[in-house]
This record gives sequence, C-alpha cells and structure tokens, in this order.
Amino acid sequence: MKGLFLAALTLFASVSCSAGGGSKQVNEETAINNTTDMKANGKALVIFFSHAGENYSVGNIEVGNTKIVVDYIVEQTGADVFEIVAEKSYDMPYSQLIKLAQDEERNGEFPAYKGQVPDLSQYDTIFIGGPIWWGTYPRVMFTFFRDNDLNGKTIIPFTTHEGSGLGNVVSDVKKAYPNATITGQFSIAGHNVRSGKATVLRWLNGLGY
Ligand SMILES: Cc1cc2nc3c(=O)[nH]c(=O)nc-3n(C[C@H](O)[C@H](O)[C@H](O)COP(=O)(O)O)c2cc1C
Repeated sequence: MKGLFLAALTLFASVSCSAGGGSKQVNEETAINNTTDMKANGKALVIFFSHAGENYSVGNIEVGNTKIVVDYIVEQTGADVFEIVAEKSYDMPYSQLIKLAQDEERNGEFPAYKGQVPDLSQYDTIFIGGPIWWGTYPRVMFTFFRDNDLNGKTIIPFTTHEGSGLGNVVSDVKKAYPNATITGQFSIAGHNVRSGKATVLRWLNGLGY
C-alpha cells in the first residue's frame, strides 16, 4: 500500500512539473493576482466537479474534497451552484480510476454529463472548481467548457489537489474562454480542506466576499 502511495506521489509530482504550462505552481492557498471586488458583480455561480469514494491521501470519503470547498464558498457568498455529474460512473477503486482518467486525458475524451445547466446569462462571476486529475481538471469538465460559452464573464478557477497546485487549469480555462477575465485563482490540498475553512475564507475575503 505504501508503495502505491509513493508511486502515486511521484506521479503527481512529475505531472506537476510537466504540466506547468507557464502557470505558477503553488503549494497551497492563494494565488490571487487581482483583488477586484467580485462582490460588486452581482450573484455568482459555482460550477464544479467532485468525486466521492476512494481517493488518494484521504481514503474513502463520502463527500468529495472539492465539494467541501464549494460548501464554504456558498456559505460565504450565497452563490448558486451547478454540479457537473458525469453520465458514466467513476465509482471504482482509486487504482482503477487513475488509469481510466489517464486514458480519458490521453485520448482527449469528452465524457457526457447530466443535468440542466442554469441560465448562464444571470451571472457575471463564475467560480469553476474541481480536482486535479493528471495535471488539470477532469475531462468531463472540458465537455462542459466545450458546450457552454463563458466568454465575457469573470471566471475564478480553483482546485483541490495532492501536489500539483493549480496544474494547468488557468491556461486551460483561458484556452476554453479567451474572452473571459480569469482571475483570483486558488488551490488547496485535498487532505487539508476539512480543516481549511479559514484558508478558503481568507481567499474569498481577498476577492471582496
Ligand atoms: C484520477 C485521479 C487523478 C489525480 N491526479 C492528480 C494529479 O495529477 N495531481 C495532483 O496533485 N493530484 C491528483 N489527484 C488527487 C486529487 O486531485 C485530489 O485528491 C482532490 O482533492 C480530489 O478532489 P475531489 O474529492 O473533489 O474529487 C488525482 C486523483 C484522482 C482520483
């Protein structure tokens, strides 16, 4: 078991290095590059993906790490929420999921998601959050990006991770939405979210919430 964890850690460290893409790697907490008062921009929406079940470092969890951060954001900001839920199941042991996610990433797949996306024209500020899977967001989030236009919005990306920080998400979101304002990005280690509410609130305070 220890061997598996060490292998995974090495894996994430190498993904972190190779997936830099010019975005600054952070160990934890904030990478706020612009302190614009987001609160002035009306009601916000949080769009996220999070995976409960067996995961690296935290074991078998009932609520995903990113979902816990989302709950802190909603409590502090009153934002609306859309959860990206894949049509296919990711309910499997971590050792299998890591391989499946790698295949999705390598093949540039666009897994389908469920649910009715809210009317996005109601929101100027959109938080986008998810775990880092293989150096960036899970592929199902890219399906959402492909199908929904967030150009012109202010987008605040955030991640939970186990070593890669923000990975490539800032540049990937910029690629998806070249005419959006991407700002205020934040990352926190998944194993720290349960005790990390104050850290999340400091980030939100810095954004004006
Ligand atoms: C399939 C898979 C791939 C992962 N890849 C990475 C990675 O490349 N870098 C990293 O730091 N963490 C990686 N992780 C760890 C997750 O990013 C971390 O546990 C995150 O907090 C999970 O959030 P969630 O519970 O909201 O899904 C990976 C986890 C899984 C399940």
